[in-house]
Amino acid sequence: MTLHRIAVIPGDGIGPEVVEIGLEVLDHVANKHGFKIETETFPFGGEHYLKTGEVLSDESLVKLKNFDVIFLGAVGSPDVRAGILEQGILLKLRFQLDQYINLRPVKLYPGIDTPIKGKGIDEIDYVVVRENTGGLYTGVGGLSMKGTEDEVAVQSMVYNYKQVSRCIRYAFELAEKRPRKTLALIGKTNVLTHVFDLWERVFNDIGTSEFPGVSREYYHVDAACMYMVKEPERFDVMVTTNMFGDIITDLGAITQGGMGMAASGNLDPSKTNPSMFEPVHGSAPDIAGQNKANPLATVITVKMMLDFLGEFDAAVEVDNAISATLTGGIENLGTSEIRAKIFQNLSS
Ligand code: IPM
Ligand code: MG
Repeated sequence: MTLHRIAVIPGDGIGPEVVEIGLEVLDHVANKHGFKIETETFPFGGEHYLKTGEVLSDESLVKLKNFDVIFLGAVGSPDVRAGILEQGILLKLRFQLDQYINLRPVKLYPGIDTPIKGKGIDEIDYVVVRENTGGLYTGVGGLSMKGTEDEVAVQSMVYNYKQVSRCIRYAFELAEKRPRKTLALIGKTNVLTHVFDLWERVFNDIGTSEFPGVSREYYHVDAACMYMVKEPERFDVMVTTNMFGDIITDLGAITQGGMGMAASGNLDPSKTNPSMFEPVHGSAPDIAGQNKANPLATVITVKMMLDFLGEFDAAVEVDNAISATLTGGIENLGTSEIRAKIFQNLSS
């Protein structure tokens, strides 16, 4: 029997509530599809930091490396200064575990409203491949003459060939597996002429030599935002930098029904290190513990995790249960009611 070892980081706010449901779903499909799940829970997050002073130590990171995947709820606490947990947990895991792809599907499920007039499930179904280890997120730069009129602040968009090529190659492989076989590079070649010279060259080189069957498109990031609203049906797979990917996936999330519906996988496709699966939403402390959180982003995240682990039948079952749960809508339903609907729709 296959065993999957999962490190669970429920985190703060609504994180533990949604993760609990995600784990129940995992348990259910594991029993049914004949694989085993072994979990260990780790306390990282705002509360743990305030209590112990640990954000995420190097020793803890070594422990996490022993797992197949990491399942993260959300980290963030109003009592912790912005940046500490984001950098110390989320970005540290992404960078240190070389999770170089942030995979973010933008798919409208049936039964969910999109704020885009006249568009539905046939028009909103694409995937954003966000580069996840470089760019503006590397923190290269600094402040000089702080507090004076001459103060200078620099934060550089840094990319090397290896980061760009492995990300673009992954995106082509993904596009090749989808019916439309279309990959759009999202950049800013007209202004960021150095970084996107590299991206565009690598995109065309790899596309021509390795993926002749995949159509290539290019959009400036600002135009891409416009089309994501005006004509989302244009897109199949998009590939872009870390910062642009962060921004456009919040826009994408709103078009798929909001942050409560957006899932993501931080992947090391080489499987050298564990990949990490997390809903895109934050810890939402204002609604924590009130039966208000939508657990579906987390359940979609579980589906992505199952796909990554090679448990394809289980992934399909979870996906079908999500679709069935959404038929008739989930408006006005609380966390526990949505949970109950999910389990009604998971076949026994
Ligand atoms: C995301 C988040 C993070 C990011 C923050 C919390 C550091 O916005 O996962 O999209 O910028 O990547
Ligand atoms: Mg973001």
